[in-house]
Amino acid sequence: MSIVTIATSKGGAGKTTAAQILSGQIAARGHRVAAIDADYNHSLADWVQAFDLPITIHRELDESRLIGLAEELEASHDLLVIDTAGAAMQATVFAIGCADLVLVPCQLSSADVVEAAKTRQLVESAAKMARRDILVRAVLTDYQVGTHIGAHVERELQACGLEALPTRLHRLVAFKEMTFNGVVPTKGPAGAQADGLIADVAALGVLPFLSMKRAS
Ligand SMILES: Nc1ncnc2c1ncn2[C@@H]1O[C@H](COP(=O)(O)OP(=O)(O)O)[C@@H](O)[C@H]1O
Ligand SMILES: [Mg+2]
Repeated sequence: MSIVTIATSKGGAGKTTAAQILSGQIAARGHRVAAIDADYNHSLADWVQAFDLPITIHRELDESRLIGLAEELEASHDLLVIDTAGAAMQATVFAIGCADLVLVPCQLSSADVVEAAKTRQLVESAAKMARRDILVRAVLTDYQVGTHIGAHVERELQACGLEALPTRLHRLVAFKEMTFNGVVPTKGPAGAQADGLIADVAALGVLPFLSMKRAS
């Protein structure tokens, strides 16, 4: 089972949006997806439950239970997505510590870049604690194409050593509609970007099950 943790200490940066795209799209392709909502707001869990999506969803804020829960899900799932809170929480550190990949959503503001950089440092500390490398990438979201600010934020992320995935999630209404109808876009620009996000993550080698045929 692959574990992708979505984290940044900036609230409203697009963590839950990225978690919805990743878990919703991969579940819709027929893979066995679990998600842990480690945020007090539990918006990911509410979304999965409201639309009865084929995702095994758990709410877990207690850091002492998070790793055990991930272990329990291991045998019966291909992917675990962990959505975290914007505020500093120990559960986030554990969610980072057990991840194959940490995605750090970043919108086009200085505060987003500052918190993304802090989160990258947190990943580095967690990696030292776990004595292993932990892959980390930024995901630019609510992105506005052709703007100076877009290019500026990308340079700032590079300067703090945080590589961004090639796919940017543009500011698109389909990503907001998804929160009201439970439908992760598969068509149009939003669908192409959702696919692009998954292809980028797969290219990092963390979704091996996507290229494997499952025996039924
Ligand atoms: N690419 C995008 N296009 C449109 N709206 C977006 C996009 N990314 C995030 N948003 C919006 O930004 C707001 C905050 O996103 P959310 O995923 O809830 O952030 P977080 O989980 O980090 O607090 C939400 O209203 C969400 O719909
Ligand atoms: Mg959220």
